[in-house]
Amino acid sequence: MNSLIVKKYIVGFTGLFLCIFLIVHLSANLILLLPEELASETYNAYAAFLAGNPLIKIVAYLLYASILLHVVYAVLITLKNKTAKGITYAVNRSDENSSWASQNMGLLGVFILLFIVVHLANFWARAKLGIGESVPLDDYGNKDLYSLADLLFNNPYYVAFYTLLMIPMGYHLFHGLKSAFKSLGVYHRSGLSVLQKVSLLFAIIMTIGFGIIPIIMYFK
Ligand code: HEM
Repeated sequence: MNSLIVKKYIVGFTGLFLCIFLIVHLSANLILLLPEELASETYNAYAAFLAGNPLIKIVAYLLYASILLHVVYAVLITLKNKTAKGITYAVNRSDENSSWASQNMGLLGVFILLFIVVHLANFWARAKLGIGESVPLDDYGNKDLYSLADLLFNNPYYVAFYTLLMIPMGYHLFHGLKSAFKSLGVYHRSGLSVLQKVSLLFAIIMTIGFGIIPIIMYFK
C-alpha cells in the first residue's frame, strides 16, 4: 500500500481514538461544575477509580501512544505535502482549493501541543508522575484533583489560556474529523454535508464544553 495512505490511516485512526478520549474527558470534567461539595467528592473519587483500574491503565498507554503517533505521522504528511508543493503554480487560488483550517492543520496542531504540554504539567505530571508539589488528599483519602483545578482556574491567565486555546482545538477537530472519515473511506458524495455537520457539531461541543469550565470555575 502507498506509504502516504498508510500514514493517513494512522493519523485518522489515532485521531478518532483521541476524539473518543475527548468525549469521555469532557464528560468527566463537567463534574467540576456541580455544587462544590458534590463536585469535589465525585471528581476525586472518579479519578481514583481510573487510577486503580488496570484496564484503564492499558487504555492510558494506548492514549499516550496515539498522541505520539498522531503527531509524528501528521508532521511526516505535512513535510511530504510541503515538498510536493515545491512545484509552484502560476495561479494558485488556495482559497478555492481548500479551507483555511485544512491548510493550517500543522499550525493548529502546534497550538494544541502547547496546550497539552502545559495541561499535563498542571495536572498529570503532579498527580501521576509525582513531579513538583505533591497533590493533597481529600477527606476520603483520594488525591484532591478538584482543589488543583479550583486553584488553577482562580488564576485569570490560566483561565484565558485554557479557554482561548480551545478555539484552535475546535478548528483542528472540525477539519480533522472530516479528514479522518475521508482517510478511512467513510466518504460518500451525498454524505459529505452530513460528515461536515457532524464534525462541526462535535467541534462546537468540545470547544464550548472545555472552554466554559475554567470560566465558570473562576466565577464559582
Ligand atoms: C477544562 C479543561 C480540562 C480540565 C479541567 C482537565 C483536567 C485534567 C485532569 C485533572 C487530568 C489528570 C487526570 C489524572 O491524572 O487522573 C487530565 C489529564 C489529561 N488531559 Fe485534561 N483537562 C481539560 C482539558 C483537556 C483537553 C482539551 C485535552 C486535550 C486536548 C486534555 C488532555 C488530557 C490528557 C491527554 C491527559 C492525560 C490522561 C491520562 O493520563 O489519563 N485535557 N486532565
